[in-house]
Amino acid sequence: MSDTHLKHLNISISKDLDLKLEDIVGKSIAVIGITGSGKTNTVAVILEELLEHGMPLAVVDVEGEYWGLKEKYEVLVVGKSENADIEVSPDDAAVIAEVSLSRNVPVILDISGFLSEEQYRFLINFFTRLWNLSGKLRKPYIVAIEEAQEFIPQGVRTDLKELLTLIARRGRKRGLSVIMASQRTTLIDKNALTQTAIRFLHHVNFENDLNIYYDLIPLPRKEVKQTILSLKPGDCILVRGSEARRVHIRLRKTFHAGYTPTLEPVKTPELKKVSDEILEAIKRAKKSGKSEAERLQEKVKELEAKLAEREKKINELESILKTLSYLKFPAKMDVEKLVVRSAELPVQQSSGVMLEQSSGVTSEQITERPSAESTPEGNRAEKRVTTTDFEELPNP
Ligand SMILES: Nc1ncnc2c1ncn2[C@@H]1O[C@H](COP(=O)(O)OP(=O)(O)OP(=O)(O)O)[C@@H](O)[C@H]1O
Ligand SMILES: [Mg+2]
Repeated sequence: MSDTHLKHLNISISKDLDLKLEDIVGKSIAVIGITGSGKTNTVAVILEELLEHGMPLAVVDVEGEYWGLKEKYEVLVVGKSENADIEVSPDDAAVIAEVSLSRNVPVILDISGFLSEEQYRFLINFFTRLWNLSGKLRKPYIVAIEEAQEFIPQGVRTDLKELLTLIARRGRKRGLSVIMASQRTTLIDKNALTQTAIRFLHHVNFENDLNIYYDLIPLPRKEVKQTILSLKPGDCILVRGSEARRVHIRLRKTFHAGYTPTLEPVKTPELKKVSDEILEAIKRAKKSGKSEAERLQEKVKELEAKLAEREKKINELESILKTLSYLKFPAKMDVEKLVVRSAELPVQQSSGVMLEQSSGVTSEQITERPSAESTPEGNRAEKRVTTTDFEELPNP
């Protein structure tokens, strides 16, 4: 989509606002406010508008609450969650980034089912590939991050934070923009916040949070405080450059899985299906890229095969030993040597003929312990065996 094209596309996130797509795309955006102030709704409304215009995007969904966008749009949900179209591991994240960016597939990265270390690894892999590939493809792509303070924390240096702030600061030339949403104004990196081009500042009520708002809103402190304290859910102060004004964001059109529960019954919507072709593309890429899980599975299979081989060998040896236990040897004979040599032979070769060859013991030296059927009752007389007799010994 060209820049000139973006100029003419209206987006409707509030009746108080006249915005074009180009006002959003390529900009870093902050959506802040206490719990219940309407942040997720605001982010979802922006995403709905972007999806309406066919823009590719990714949402980092820590609560598993964005799948409702599928009510109206073809969005791929990946991650570890019951809502995922395809379950993926942190090792698959680079593949997801590649498919999403190169094929224009909007994705929800539902990382709600991962442990925090896995979430971290998933996002590092995803954003590293996104950053590298966007340098080549250079097309508009929007990233929304909920609970942004977890990944862009104030006062802590992590590789993921560096990467995300790099995307927020320098992504524009590659077409990338970041929407960061957080209810913990004081815990999200202050620099990242002050560098945002557009801010949707919802209700906060603590002095600490207000202190940060004073730096983010180009209005007199008194006015900021008065306005902010009076905001209802969905209301916010919108800041764009030197402009700051109170607006009300429209309610999202798609299902809000993170809605505030009421006594009213909630009907789960019908969802759009992602095309099989995209799912197949991811499965194929996963296979060729060999995720860690796949590699481990292969290793397990390899070890199982080795174990089966060993068990087979043990069975063979036991079978040989059992065969030998039916035999009597002259006292002088080196039985140990005989067993060791016999064990080296495949089981079907444990006939008298082979024993003769391998141990030097002749059939004349070997005597059979006769079975009950073969001897008259009480008569334990020994009988010389021939090689043919030996082959007919009871199968152990
Ligand atoms: N623009 C809006 N107009 C009317 N009501 C809204 C609007 N935005 C949000 N609400 C109401 O506020 C509730 C909470 O909204 P939302 O889930 O977006 O809050 P949040 O700030 O994301 O909360 P949390 O931090 O707990 O996730 C919604 O269920 C809805 O009832
Ligand atoms: Mg929310």
